[in-house]
Amino acid sequence: MVFPVSNKPIKWRSAGELRGLFLSYFEGLGAKRYPSFPLVPDDPTLLFTVAGMVPFKPYFLGLRTPEVGRATTSQKCIRTNDIENVGRTARHHTFFEMLGNFSFGDYFKKEVIPWAWEFLTERVGLDADRLYATIYLDDDEAHDMWKSLVGLPDDRIYRLGEDDNFWAAGPTGPCGPCSEIIYDQGPEFSCGRPDCGVGCSCDRYLEIWNLVFMQYSRDESGQLTPLPKKNIDTGMGLERLSSVVQGVKGDFETDLFKPIIDAASRIACVRYGEDKANDLAVRVISDHLRASAFMIADGILPSNEGPGYVLRRLIRRSARFGRSMGIDRPFLLELLPVVNEIMSDPYTELVEQRQAIEQIILTEEERFGRTLSQGIDLLDDELALARKAGSGKLSGGVAFMLYDTYGFPLELTEEISTEAGVSVDRGEFDSCMERQRERARASSKQSSAVMEKNVYTEAADRLGATKFDGYEVTSEDATVAAIIKDGVETASIRSGTEALVILSQTPFYAERGGQVGDRGVLRSAASRFEVADTIHPSGDLVAHRGTLVEGEMSVGMKIGAFVDEERRNAVRKHHTATHLLHEALGRVLGKHVRQAGSMVTPAFLRFDFNHFAPMTQEEIAEVERIVYSEVLAAKPVTTSVMSYAESRGTGVKALFEEKYGDVVRVVEVPGFSKELCGGIHVSNTGEIGLVRIVRDEGIGSGVRRINAVAGMVSLELFQGSSAALRNLYEVIGGDQDTVVQKAQDLVEERKTLERKNQEAMLRAMLDNVGRLIINSVRIDGTVLIAETLGKVSRDLLRQLGDRIKSAEKSVVMLFGAIEEDGQAALTCMASDEAVKRGVHAGNIVKEIAGAMGGSGGGKPAMGQGGSKDAGKLKEIMASAEGIVRRQLGK
Ligand code: SER
Repeated sequence: MVFPVSNKPIKWRSAGELRGLFLSYFEGLGAKRYPSFPLVPDDPTLLFTVAGMVPFKPYFLGLRTPEVGRATTSQKCIRTNDIENVGRTARHHTFFEMLGNFSFGDYFKKEVIPWAWEFLTERVGLDADRLYATIYLDDDEAHDMWKSLVGLPDDRIYRLGEDDNFWAAGPTGPCGPCSEIIYDQGPEFSCGRPDCGVGCSCDRYLEIWNLVFMQYSRDESGQLTPLPKKNIDTGMGLERLSSVVQGVKGDFETDLFKPIIDAASRIACVRYGEDKANDLAVRVISDHLRASAFMIADGILPSNEGPGYVLRRLIRRSARFGRSMGIDRPFLLELLPVVNEIMSDPYTELVEQRQAIEQIILTEEERFGRTLSQGIDLLDDELALARKAGSGKLSGGVAFMLYDTYGFPLELTEEISTEAGVSVDRGEFDSCMERQRERARASSKQSSAVMEKNVYTEAADRLGATKFDGYEVTSEDATVAAIIKDGVETASIRSGTEALVILSQTPFYAERGGQVGDRGVLRSAASRFEVADTIHPSGDLVAHRGTLVEGEMSVGMKIGAFVDEERRNAVRKHHTATHLLHEALGRVLGKHVRQAGSMVTPAFLRFDFNHFAPMTQEEIAEVERIVYSEVLAAKPVTTSVMSYAESRGTGVKALFEEKYGDVVRVVEVPGFSKELCGGIHVSNTGEIGLVRIVRDEGIGSGVRRINAVAGMVSLELFQGSSAALRNLYEVIGGDQDTVVQKAQDLVEERKTLERKNQEAMLRAMLDNVGRLIINSVRIDGTVLIAETLGKVSRDLLRQLGDRIKSAEKSVVMLFGAIEEDGQAALTCMASDEAVKRGVHAGNIVKEIAGAMGGSGGGKPAMGQGGSKDAGKLKEIMASAEGIVRRQLGK
């Protein structure tokens, strides 16, 4: 049954006001108000936070005890399953805000239903006569509550099936039946079908709030198990609520989007509402730009996988829609201030990360812009061919080339193709991708490694993983399990032989995770094998690479394995220092900082990370200060072994691209840093000593590399720079407080002397003006002065020229100078009268410099030039007379 729609007016409220109203309402009911959690959840089953309940999953599942029983948030969410629909409908988005209230075993149905009703009807002021409720098929309890506690008549309560009224965040995890509150927007929003009613997917009966009675957990087999406690999870889209309250046709017309749409329309020189294609484009841009800004603010960077790939798609998709309206330059940057204006309260991260957001969006748009038109032309040609051939299919090879060479995300190619009625061969695309991966894998292996590969895989299959004892000890007894010489297994080796030795167990750390392999010795009473490096030639097999310097070694022999402890200790210090730097860099430069690579050696550490600008001196100093405070705090460094799943949700840093096994090792500096890491660390941060960043450089777009030193190496560095300073004090005089001033004084003094020297030269030359004129040649009343001078500044020459010009009306001056490096410099000046008579100073220089194998030119009154070789300057300058005569026609 559908009721007639009443027309009670609703008070207009901004989205910001509605957000605040919601949070304070539930706060008033005893809920703790949390700021939004990040967009990337600490949850390996989800790429993004897709609902307000995601950050609370461990509480619902009873894995962790919440600090409160009730909570409320306005949660930033991303959903990407319907990107193609964004902008085409009134209410699809990638980024949106979910208003939620949650109960962790605290309140349940009988509280949440009347509260939701009260909030909508009394606080927001929605017309109760426009509201309906839906419930899960057999949920009589919810039915009774809507009826008895709210007073909703039977015929306003609809029972719907699993698709509509059973909610789960994903295939597994917490879930439960739900009840939705529907708002009737009125017949003008209806699809017009005779059966249009509650449950219809058109815009008339809008689901505005979902109340989930979270009481089950679903496992991988689909089995539902009751949760330890009954919970509540509700979610209401702020965008939808705003559109209802603001009385507009769809979310894009609310104050959350409209200013962005208007600004995008202005940039594109289009009017919103006049052209369907342009309207779609500006709606898509407004949605994607919000999402991109928030993703970057939460530390996501464009890449080819994971959340970064989604970000890349969104930015590139926006750029393409901009292009479709004729915008042929990067423009997204210009819209960011509008996004900030709307969203920076309460999302201050947009302001804190403003620089990163701008830089990253601009760089990505520029990068894509460079190949976009070429790619589109190519795709258009291919689509025309596919249509002509009647196949209706675009080859996966073309899609792959567009991806690989032109940076077109596959989905973008698919979308443009679909618009042209052509589908993309995805299977072929996937196999091209796989082939490329294989090529990359093959080319990254050294040919020798490929040759030797068999012997290692065989050894690894036979011997299994080498037991590594190096976390606990640096020396132990072991048995020689295999010896590999020149890529072949051998039973024994003699003194002087280079080989790889595999032991039954070892304290030697083999290179992995950026930490170099250990060095040391393998020793028995009569033999000594010096280990130069330790590696993993295959899987977890450990091989000691080195030379037998004494005696013999054979398989089955007992030896003592001794790691070079001093070197190992220097490595440890640099490794823990790397973790401290990683955390400190994030704190100083922003959350986007992620490890992109690292190398840990006894002499230095290298750390690559995503960041868009060189670090300032202040930032470097701040990072060093934070790290050193952790060192001075002399904190114990702890390691613990746990399952990968257990480590999630504890704020531990993991590398995005890295594949972790089921069991991981967590290295923690309490209260500061936590990372998954298999490397070797100090047991107390105090052992690290001073950590100094010695170098900061860019290595490719958006990746910076720093080098740093710790421990004894820092002392050596410090001693070195102190010695250099002492030498400076000796040469310049002064001490730490005065040396800079002294050096500045010296530089100033030098400048003054140079100036004085030039002045003296000018004076000498000016004194000589008379002599220059006397020595000159006169050609029919025009004076030609051709002289070689020492190194004279241009300014001085000009002054000299002016002085001569004031003494002679028609005059040409050609000055040559031989510079310290043997190059010749030529300057020619002519007075106005001489120019009038036909002299061209630029051409004189051109000819003379040309004759010396150099070049030059200029204007009639002034010419300049030079030649690498100043030999014969004098003779060649003598030819000036002939040139001037020619110019004067004499
Ligand atoms: N988790 C539910 C939803 O996303 C209610 O918050 O609809």
